[in-house]
Amino acid sequence: MKKLLKYGLIALVLLLVVAQVAKPVERSNPPVVGDLGAPPAVDAVLRRACYDCHSNETVWPWYAYVAPASWLVADHVEEGREHLNFSEWSTYSVGKRDHKLEEVWDEVESGAMPEESYLWLHGEAKLSDEEKQLLHDWVEQTRAALEDEDAG
Ligand code: HEC
Repeated sequence: MKKLLKYGLIALVLLLVVAQVAKPVERSNPPVVGDLGAPPAVDAVLRRACYDCHSNETVWPWYAYVAPASWLVADHVEEGREHLNFSEWSTYSVGKRDHKLEEVWDEVESGAMPEESYLWLHGEAKLSDEEKQLLHDWVEQTRAALEDEDAG
């Protein structure tokens, strides 16, 4: 029985080493092209709750270096950046910004963002009602300004 446990542990360690080596993970932070530049209070909330997955300023946690957790983290960041990247905000067209802002509020209001799995390990990213209200007002104001801009 002891022997079985020993071999089981050795096999597990080997498996983890193979996992680590077999599929290396990209953990890059590309340059910030043009940051969103929201007002400080909004900026602080977004940085705390969203920037790890929606910017090029990801703070990679220690478990992002250990397979298989590293695969999950890297996938979320890659996918998150694809959908919405606050570090490339200035490259978005006016129409795209407007649409992304609408989605930001949809996601926050429904509680879909920040992702549930992220909150398990990042309790500090949970948004209070006041913070949600702040984001709501900012989204409304910014979209109104964009629509003026679009109308020329
Ligand atoms: C742990 C990573 C992670 C965090 C943190 C996170 N997101 Fe996301 N977000 C994703 C991923 C992955 C997607 C793409 C898949 C999806 O829509 O679920 C996404 C998609 C989105 C989208 C686009 C939806 C669409 O239909 O294209 C918006 C908007 C968004 N997130 C807003 C936010 C906001 C606002 C925050 C902070 C309050 C936040 N996210 C925090 C990972 C994250």
